[in-house]
Order: sequence, then C-alpha cells, then structure tokens
Amino acid sequence: MNRNQHIQHLPLTPLLHPWIKEQIGHPELLLSAIEEHGSPVNVHSLIPFRENIQAYQAVFQKLGLKHKIFFARKANKCVAFPLEATKQGEGADTASFRELKQCLDAGIAPKDLILTAAVKNRQLLKLAVEHQVTVVLDNPDEWDLLQQIVREKQKEITVNVRLGSFRFEGKTLPTRFGFTSEEAFVFIQKIRNEEPLVQFTGLHFHLNGYSLEQRVHAIEQSLDLIDRLHGKGIITESLDIGGGFLMNYLSDKSEWENFHRELKRAVLEEREPITYQNDALGMIKLNNQLYGEPTVYPYYNELNKSGFLKAILTSFSSTQQQPLFELLKKRNIELRMEPGRSLLDQCGITVAKIAFRKKDSDGNWLFGLEMNRTQLRSSSADYLLDPIHIAETENAEENNAIEGFLVGAYCLEQELILKRKITFSKFPQVGDLIVFPNTAGYLMHFFESEAHLFELAKNLVVVGDVLYFCDGLKM
Ligand SMILES: Cc1ncc(COP(=O)(O)O)c(C=O)c1O
Repeated sequence: MNRNQHIQHLPLTPLLHPWIKEQIGHPELLLSAIEEHGSPVNVHSLIPFRENIQAYQAVFQKLGLKHKIFFARKANKCVAFPLEATKQGEGADTASFRELKQCLDAGIAPKDLILTAAVKNRQLLKLAVEHQVTVVLDNPDEWDLLQQIVREKQKEITVNVRLGSFRFEGKTLPTRFGFTSEEAFVFIQKIRNEEPLVQFTGLHFHLNGYSLEQRVHAIEQSLDLIDRLHGKGIITESLDIGGGFLMNYLSDKSEWENFHRELKRAVLEEREPITYQNDALGMIKLNNQLYGEPTVYPYYNELNKSGFLKAILTSFSSTQQQPLFELLKKRNIELRMEPGRSLLDQCGITVAKIAFRKKDSDGNWLFGLEMNRTQLRSSSADYLLDPIHIAETENAEENNAIEGFLVGAYCLEQELILKRKITFSKFPQVGDLIVFPNTAGYLMHFFESEAHLFELAKNLVVVGDVLYFCDGLKM
C-alpha cells in the first residue's frame, strides 16, 4: 500500500484548556476509560465551566447589575453541570420533564430552576407547579393548562412571558416562539386579572442566531413593554435574554479564513477537494458559480462569551441615548440569561478508538472509528476543529504524514464523522485514540441516536486523576 501523499495541510487548530492538554499528554485515563466503557466516551471537566460562569458574573458585577444565570442544560445531558451552576450561586434552565425532574431529585432548589420547554404537557406543568418552579409561557394554550393545574393543586406559581417577533431593520424577526409585544401587553393583564394564584414576574426571549445588534433591539423593545406594563401598575422584576452567546473554538483567525477560501476553490474545482466527495458544506453551486456561505457554526469569534455579554449590555439604546445596563438598573430589573453552549466552552471532549484503515473506491484513506456520526454532530454542516491523534504504539515505519477521512459505524455511505479531510502527522494504527476537543456544548449529545442498537456513549467527569460518572458516582 502506497502511503506517500502530497499533503497540503489546512489546519483548524482548536483552543485547548490546560485540563485537555493534560489528558492528551498523559492519556492513561482516556485509555482506561475506553477500555472499561467502550468507544466513544465523553470526558468532562467542571473547571472551565466554573471559569465561564465567573467570567459572566464579573461582567454583572462591574456593571452593578442584578443578575441570574440559568445554565441551559439541553446543551449537555450531565447533571453535574446544573449542580455546579447552583454551587456558583446560579441556576439551570430546563427543557423537558426529565431535565426538570433530575434537577429536582438532585436537590436543586426550585428557585434556581426555570422551565422553558418548547412543549409543556400536563405531566411537566404538574411537576413545575408542585415544586413552584417558574414557568416561561409561550402561548395561550399553555396558560389554559397551567391555570387548570394551579387551581386543582391550589398552589401559587410565578410565570414569565416569552416575547418574540421583535422589529429589526424595518422587518419582524421570524420566529415560532413567544408573543408580540402588543399580545404580551394584553396577555399579562389577563394573567393578573384572571388568576390570583399566578404571579407574573418577568419577560423572556431567546433569539435564534448570534446577532449582537438583534439582542440590543430585543432588549430595547422589552424595556418599552416593561414601561407600558408599569403604567398599568404591573411590575416586571426580571428580563431573561436567553442564550446564543458566541464562543470561540479556534486559535487562529487566518486558518479560519484560509479554510473558507480553499473550500470555495475546491468546490469550484480550482484545487483538489478538502471535503469528502467535495461536499460544499451547505453552499450551492450553480453554473460554476457559488452561492451562500458554508452553513457551519462561526467557530472563530474574537468577541465571545463574557465580552459578547458586555458588548450587549453596554450598547447604547438608540431611542433613550443611554447604555442598556443603565436603563435596566434604573428600573431595578434583574437581568437573566440562559447560556448553554458558551458555558460549556472547553468542558468536554469525545474520545474514540480506531478500528480499521482502508481505502475507498477513489483511493481516499478511510480511518474507521468505533463511534457513529450522531455522537459528534451539530445542526451545522461540519465540526471544523482538528481532532487530536493519540498514537498508542510507536511505529517508526509509520511516521509519514497522511490525509484521510474519519468514518463511523452506521451502514450509510454518508457515515462520515467529519466531512473535512484530516491530516495526521503519523499513520493511525488500530487501537489509537482520536480526541475531538470542545464537544460538550450540543456536539456530543444533541443528535445522539441508538440506531443499530448501538449503546449511547458513557459520560464521565474528571476530577484530579479520577473519573466519575456524570451523575457523580465514582467509576
Ligand atoms: C429558550 C432557550 N434558552 C437558552 C438556549 C441556549 O442557547 P445557547 O446554547 O446557544 O446559549 C436555547 C437554545 O436553544 C433556548 O431555546
């Protein structure tokens, strides 16, 4: 087999927290986890999670703003994260019956929880009412059901109302969620007038995408509604601005730009492909013209996490000529947020074992992993970070760099773990490990499936040099 290739490496170098570097440098723990739990495993650390929370807290402190952070636990299944959030004085946002129940069973106080599930059935609302967890109302049918349950149980509960359809650049931001400002104005008065057991305490929104400007406009429009409600004697205690805080996965801007440029050249056949079967990652090619941009997460962001939050809150209101945080403070509003992905920055890695090496019909090297593509998958077209190869055995003859694709265990032709062609500095051996960094936010869990009856990956948390299951039990 000829392993000499002309390699044109286009790196996308991931940022790595010291705990990840430590695990890669001394992979005994990862090897033993794979040995014991099979491949792949997800390994987490709470250290960066704490740091990420503290960085957001520092922004609120600096601006002198009351706040509460509800970690959006839909982004990762491990209950260790909501527990850590409450230890840091914050809370968790829950999106399903099991997410809420597990948090309550783990001893998280109901005041530290919020329920934002997109579908809230009777079972879920009953649980929220029994424990008096704040419910974010999205539509009138939810209100009718909640009202029935509250009356049956004779329990008091607080609700927030979700806003949507904000105006931006002369258009309405499209959404399937929430009430318009006008609808909310009427609805919140109805809540007050109809149901003494229910107290309205706050407004809520979560915007699709990552636009800072849209968030600024949404806060301004929420403040207008807060003032209108005040005119009716209704006090809004909190404004929850949801999640969607950008994070940065990559160490080098030029690599990110280079990748985009070369992908376009490749799809236009001006160079050899850099993705499997020259996949355009969501761009459209018509008559040798490319349209659109790759539909991928913006992996490189200079303005991210706490910097992004600060930029939102210090933005000037165009109508009131003051920074938003001043306008919130004046009204004594607690600013709430529900970050998922950004709190999980650097908190998890996915580790898988190489099962085989072979060539496809076009002569591409394929490296088969004991995992499937639902175990590393986002809603965007590809995971654009270089995986890290941990060679288990030293093999002097196999020290040539090699390019190829990582493929997985589902039976589909399209079962690529990554669509991007990957360069390995050494030829991978069966039994070597591949580490995918920074996968804790959505990538490892959101699209996981048990097709072919494959078991779901085990989730572990590393503390010092010991691994625990993510529910806190020792391995
Ligand atoms: C209501 C709500 N809050 C928070 C989030 C978390 O968003 P992110 O992980 O982008 O911060 C989501 C994500 O879908 C959401 O729907």
